[in-house]
Amino acid sequence: MNKRTLEPHIERILFSEQEIAHRVDQLATKIAADYQEGGAAKDPQARPLILVCILRGALAFTADLARRIDMPLEYDLISVSSYGNGTVPGAVRLVKDLDRPIAGRDVLIIEDIIDTGYTVQYLRRTLAARNPASIRICSLIDKVSRRETDVDIDYAGFPLEEDLFIVGYGMDYAELYRNLPYIGILKPEYIQ
Ligand code: PRP
Repeated sequence: MNKRTLEPHIERILFSEQEIAHRVDQLATKIAADYQEGGAAKDPQARPLILVCILRGALAFTADLARRIDMPLEYDLISVSSYGNGTVPGAVRLVKDLDRPIAGRDVLIIEDIIDTGYTVQYLRRTLAARNPASIRICSLIDKVSRRETDVDIDYAGFPLEEDLFIVGYGMDYAELYRNLPYIGILKPEYIQ
């Protein structure tokens, strides 16, 4: 399946490729300014910021953001999964851990979307236990209407008040649509 065959599945584009690129640029500029000025950077050894990409949805966003942040940085990947059996609301488990230690380092967690907030809450707690110098959170989409737990988001791309089912730019439905360059709403007939 290619992009043109996926296109008819989209009811409406919510954020175009250009809008996303512009917002990513703004976020990258803010992040670079914050960490370079030292207000956000706390590592006593002044080692580079580490971006932590949450697989798999944040892959596209992290790749674009990292390339626009104009300062030395590292990135690492982590993967979590919600239990999804409905018995324990918000239960999250670690599927793939970071490859490198983060003790004493400045860490910026990168999400594509924060919905209930349970994923990022779990990650903040799990990574905080490793004694990083600082942890901040950056999410392209902040689905505020769905929040079930308190989360402080330091960098948010687009707040989304409506509870819309969105795909593209990393976000999937049944693993498809992640490669769309924009974020759109899926037509109901394609949701089973
Ligand atoms: C999505 C998204 C976040 C999480 C947000 O991941 O990428 O990680 O859900 O939801 P929450 O705030 O309610 O916890 P998903 O589990 O769909 O996996 P994916 O990233 O592989 O698409």
